[in-house]
Amino acid sequence: MQLTARPFAAIVLSGLALVTVGCSRQDMHDQPKYKPQRPSEFFADGRDSRPEVDGTIARGELNEDVAYYNGKDNLGKDVDAFPIAVNKAVIERGRQRYDIYCAPCHGRLGNGMGMIVQRGFKQPPSYHIDRLRNAPVGHFYDVVTNGYGAMLNYSQQIQVRDRWAIVAYIRALQYSQNANVNDLPTEAKAKLPPAGQAMGADMKDAMEHEPMAPADSDFKNFPAEPATPAGVPGAMGAGAHSRSQADSQAKPAAAHKGQPETK
Ligand code: HEC
Repeated sequence: MQLTARPFAAIVLSGLALVTVGCSRQDMHDQPKYKPQRPSEFFADGRDSRPEVDGTIARGELNEDVAYYNGKDNLGKDVDAFPIAVNKAVIERGRQRYDIYCAPCHGRLGNGMGMIVQRGFKQPPSYHIDRLRNAPVGHFYDVVTNGYGAMLNYSQQIQVRDRWAIVAYIRALQYSQNANVNDLPTEAKAKLPPAGQAMGADMKDAMEHEPMAPADSDFKNFPAEPATPAGVPGAMGAGAHSRSQADSQAKPAAAHKGQPETK
């Protein structure tokens, strides 16, 4: 006992000594210095912060590639060609981002009938109108980057590369509704039914209906609040409420029972 008490006292004392020394040595903290955005009599312009040297660019923000970052050519016109290589992975990524950020208004098919529009937001034009089918890819990039009329911009939410991926997917959507048979590769053309053969009813149906979004009529009878059928065990509402109360009452008792005796 005696042996262990002595080193213990030594540790406590040296700890105290450190605290006292720490408190008395404040000079590094108190040295004269300028704080950001404070006035100064030293510089002619009266500010302590120095302006950036002209042309200063933060690391990683050179953004030299105007076509890639702005979607414009050197004359400020929308670019007509993708500044990234477009492949299936890019289009898949674009589809995923499009379904998150654009489909709520533009619809999964790009027809401008997304859920938010069906609930009253201004209806955007369909991507399948001639003007937008003929618009250069830079225009779509510009709309996402800077917004357009009632549409806000998505430059904060969507990174540059993803914006291009979305534009690539919009082009795919446009093709999906307006493909020309001559755009098909030869082997795909060979698989088409012979010219003049009537289109099957199922195929026609698939082309006329948006595959993912349910028709508006599906929601007509959808109750706003979950129905609460009386006395159905497991149903939402009164029944479920009393059941969960019973659960919470049962828990402490069960936990107590399971605990080993300590005394
Ligand atoms: C909140 C709803 C909403 C969302 C989300 C939205 N848009 Fe729009 N978009 C609109 C509206 C509304 C317009 C029409 C704006 C106007 O004419 O005032 C529009 C117009 C457009 C146009 C047509 C511009 C033109 O030349 O007529 C494009 C292209 C477009 N949006 C792309 C996108 C893309 C890509 C996304 C996803 C990154 C997106 N939008 C997300 C509502 C939305």
